[in-house]
Amino acid sequence: MATRHFLSLLDLTPAELAQVLQRGIELKAWQKQGKAHEFLKNKVLGMIFEKSSTRTRISFESAMAHCGGSSIFLSPRDSQLGRGEPVPDMAKVMSRMVDCVMIRTFHQSTIEVFAEHSNVPVINALTDKFHPCQLIADMQTFYEHRGSIQGKTVAWVGDGFNMCNSYINAARQYDFQLKIAAPKAHYPDAQVLKAAGSHVEINDDPAWAAQGADLVVTDVWASMGHEEEQAKRNELFAPYQVNAELMALAKPDALFMHCLPAHRGEEVTAEVIDGTQSVVWDEAENRLHAQKALLEFLLLPQS
Ligand code: CP
Ligand code: NVA
Repeated sequence: MATRHFLSLLDLTPAELAQVLQRGIELKAWQKQGKAHEFLKNKVLGMIFEKSSTRTRISFESAMAHCGGSSIFLSPRDSQLGRGEPVPDMAKVMSRMVDCVMIRTFHQSTIEVFAEHSNVPVINALTDKFHPCQLIADMQTFYEHRGSIQGKTVAWVGDGFNMCNSYINAARQYDFQLKIAAPKAHYPDAQVLKAAGSHVEINDDPAWAAQGADLVVTDVWASMGHEEEQAKRNELFAPYQVNAELMALAKPDALFMHCLPAHRGEEVTAEVIDGTQSVVWDEAENRLHAQKALLEFLLLPQS
């Protein structure tokens, strides 16, 4: 059976994503009940991080520990990758030693090349293009609070970067309507957008996007790698702040999500992120449960 990877949300079918979502909910319940779920006994996850992380590292390491396996954390200083070892060589070597590889890096092409040369599943743990692990957690979170997201309306307000691109893929895979409001200079990837067809509409008006939404989502204005543009971006993105006024345009029971880390007073006010419509802590926790389900799906494929 061919090795399955998770480089974007499109690597799983909608039915498989639905299966992962339900299994994430089940594994969350099992953990809360103290029910053992050591289905990854003796399995090893190699984790390559070329950017910082709180949630991704902790959730993957905890997931492997809870499921009976273990993980190896590699920052650029910890492996020869940081000293220029070719990505295909790294992939060939690692995949002879570990059962799965998780990578957080800059270019989507890096993980694509890695996956091409890997005999074990490769998981995208964030690139400049996508952050699919966050989306499986977000979709589980929406389901837990409001039921199926199919046919609902989601407002993306802010930078059209990796999270926004993944929301576009999610609109296709989970069948919801996505309204994106971003400054024209920061629109998402044109090809990703085009491929989503009528699932996605785009404008530069945050009020238009928020109007009638079931879910409002944003992200930092200066992602990892864009820190030097912070001041310029703060000015450009100021009209895109998710505040109480903007949330008031969404449905009264609309949820608010943010992948975190958040900058209160920039892309979101403290009133919104710490308010009653925000589900960001459930969203962060669900990284753990959704990724356990993903690891099981990739490492223990059903025949
Ligand atoms: N949301 C997310 O991926 O967080 P980290 O950067 O802390 O891993
Ligand atoms: N867009 C953010 C997401 C962080 C989880 C970044 O790339 O820094």
